[in-house]
Amino acid sequence: MTVVASLPLAPGALPLLGHAVPLVRRPLDFVSSLPAHGGLVRIRMGTRSVVMVCDPQLTRQVLLNDSVFDKGGPLFERGREVAGNSLLSCPHDMHRRQRRLCQPAFHTDRFPGYNVAFADLAENLAKSWQDRQIVDVTEALTRLTAEVAVETMFARSLPASIASQILDDFIILSEGIFRRAVTPSTLNRLPVPANRRYRRALTRLKSTVFEIIAARRSATTDHGDLLSSLANAVDPDSKGGRYSLSDEELVDQVIIFLYAGSDTTAAAVAWALHLLAQRTDLDILLYEEARKALRDTPLVLVDPNSLEMANRVLAESLRMYPPAWLTTRTVASDTELGGVVLPAGTIVGYSPYLVHRLPDLYKEPDTFDPDRWLSPPADRSAYIPFGAGARKCIGDRFGMAQAALILTAIISRWRLIPAGGRPVRAAAKVTLMPKGLHMRVLARERPY
Ligand code: HEM
Repeated sequence: MTVVASLPLAPGALPLLGHAVPLVRRPLDFVSSLPAHGGLVRIRMGTRSVVMVCDPQLTRQVLLNDSVFDKGGPLFERGREVAGNSLLSCPHDMHRRQRRLCQPAFHTDRFPGYNVAFADLAENLAKSWQDRQIVDVTEALTRLTAEVAVETMFARSLPASIASQILDDFIILSEGIFRRAVTPSTLNRLPVPANRRYRRALTRLKSTVFEIIAARRSATTDHGDLLSSLANAVDPDSKGGRYSLSDEELVDQVIIFLYAGSDTTAAAVAWALHLLAQRTDLDILLYEEARKALRDTPLVLVDPNSLEMANRVLAESLRMYPPAWLTTRTVASDTELGGVVLPAGTIVGYSPYLVHRLPDLYKEPDTFDPDRWLSPPADRSAYIPFGAGARKCIGDRFGMAQAALILTAIISRWRLIPAGGRPVRAAAKVTLMPKGLHMRVLARERPY
């Protein structure tokens, strides 16, 4: 059996910084280069060593064995700074109870209400654009999905100033988490403006959410939003005593739901628009679908699952640019993976991006081809934009429904063409975002 120390170390590590430079500057090239060194490869995040899993079957083993490959590693440590032991970041032994309490918020019955928020806010954005205007698409969608997250979490119960303050804090945090995860903790403690801004946003966001929850606890009305479902959740295993999420747990869940659902969905739609701009034939097909769907039905009443082309375009965008592109785990007890002994405490990384671009799994993996999804891959380890196993994304249908309605609202009104002089590049925050995605919006010739 091989030991971790004998695994190959990816080239380009610097003292103290490790692989922070390639991870931040050219993240996709960096992770794509790893399989050439083997099925398991060491990288350095700051001073920490991470074993990157570069093989799809081994990745699946990691994801399915969530008691041994538990949540942990630099990304989750930073995540816990923001949202404690929320559903996303909690260890295995806390997870089952939390998942049961959170699951009803994503029950099919609640979707028509969420769809109203998705459709209304998406249409507001699409209607606000002027013909031939240049839009920073990533920025517009990041704000839109953050607004959707706030609205679906709190219905329309918040004063505009509070909602906008939550949005601002939350954008600062999402920008800071990845940077802080890949740089050494000593740098994160320095009293420089970026660190101060991050701390301030975190403190303010937590106290605002606490106040909102305190107000909500005093009434048991179901507002149809995520918060009502979470606040009223009952643990079926409980025999008397505490049966719901405590206030502290609720604050953490609220923050993580705001956080986990918005940048990811914004990225999915932004990449889709970027890819569509290079394929006019597909853009036209999508427009035809949108026109047909909206001929007699307002967007709020369109079933997102019926938007077949939009869903295929999004599935393919999520393959090429999975928003949660790199994630970590910590080995809870000594184990073995692919013939290598991993002692407890080893940090393991997996990357949906890396898996989705493997030529053994996808013919011409760098080609945008939504038709692949006419018959999805038989190999379940091949497509993991939402992870897999017990820790699979709880908001997958919520994110896809939202993304399909946003895409339809935009495509039905506008054709988007590249307008930036510079090439679009992938920026690695926790979420993989297209940066410099400046697009000109052109009114569609035919009104629907
Ligand atoms: C296109 C959109 C989305 C993508 C690509 C995405 C991706 C993911 C991935 C890959 C994971 C697993 C992370 C891991 O293995 O460590 C995850 C988990 C999670 N996601 Fe999403 N997500 C999306 C939308 C959402 C939405 C809309 C919400 C909430 C409203 C959400 C909430 C969560 C939560 C709470 C978890 C943790 C689940 C658990 O551990 O039980 N996500 N997501």
